[in-house]
Amino acid sequence: MASPPFVAICLCFLGLASVTTTMAAPPRKPIDVPFQRNYVPTWAFDHIKYFNGGNEIQLHLDKYTGTGFQSKGSYLFGHFSMQIKMVPGDSAGTVTAFYLSSQNSEHDEIDFEFLGNRTGQPYILQTNVFTGGKGDREQRIYLWFDPTKDFHAYSVLWNMYIIVFFVDDVPIRVFKNNKDLGVRFPFNQPMKIYSSLWNADDWATRGGLEKTNWANAPFVASYKGFHVDGCEASVEAKFCATQGKRWWDQKEFQDLDGMQYRKMSWVRQKYTIYNYCNDRSRYPSMPAECSRDRDV
Ligand SMILES: *[C@@H]1O[C@H](CO)[C@@H](O)[C@H](O)[C@H]1NC(C)=O
Repeated sequence: MASPPFVAICLCFLGLASVTTTMAAPPRKPIDVPFQRNYVPTWAFDHIKYFNGGNEIQLHLDKYTGTGFQSKGSYLFGHFSMQIKMVPGDSAGTVTAFYLSSQNSEHDEIDFEFLGNRTGQPYILQTNVFTGGKGDREQRIYLWFDPTKDFHAYSVLWNMYIIVFFVDDVPIRVFKNNKDLGVRFPFNQPMKIYSSLWNADDWATRGGLEKTNWANAPFVASYKGFHVDGCEASVEAKFCATQGKRWWDQKEFQDLDGMQYRKMSWVRQKYTIYNYCNDRSRYPSMPAECSRDRDV
């Protein structure tokens, strides 16, 4: 629940000293690094274009192929951020994805998927969380800006307590560790970070009604930032799982604060298109995690 307005008013009279117990912090500011520091191309290498020493790249999609890239390392917890400018103009039928995934059959996954649209029509941002191979937790929102005009940061904060999806500094979704409710939480399978641009005109835009117009190819999504600040599991697997000493493990990152919850509820109330938590035709009774993660 969002803090009711009177809480905010009361805080005004308390002064700084007494606020410390409820204080949380935004994640550390991402550091821009070149693509090749943290990433390698995955497929269709010639469809990735490099600029400015790899500080900026473009993914190109044409009728022959899309393309994608992945992180060199696998990570168990951390903060992962990408600045992306989505395919401008007529992007209907295309999907740009940025996600974390483990590489096994009962996999964990944390997804941002950007569904393109006809010129001037709004993109949809779909998010999803898989735990132990089970997904089906889609949420969809419109963005409060045009994601094709400028770069915006899309980030994931992941620790033992919570997964937070951020768009710039606005949390748009949380998935908490609801182990006590019998819901699996990603905690022991390292994930790589992936991104790709591909044709999905069988489902992406207006449910597949709007097809990709190849006369407008190539479709181009631009990237910069490439920030990765995680516990690299191949290097320190045991450490990642057991220590809890990294900045993202600390108290102020284990939950959102009141201001962050207010931002999140603003987005969710204003821009939600679909939330699996409220879909009674799919889930006759509400999935357990929804009682905590659903709407604030
Ligand atoms: C595309 O635009 C249509 C019409 O405004 C809208 O209904 C739809 O949600 C938009 N986004 C996608 C990805 O279909």
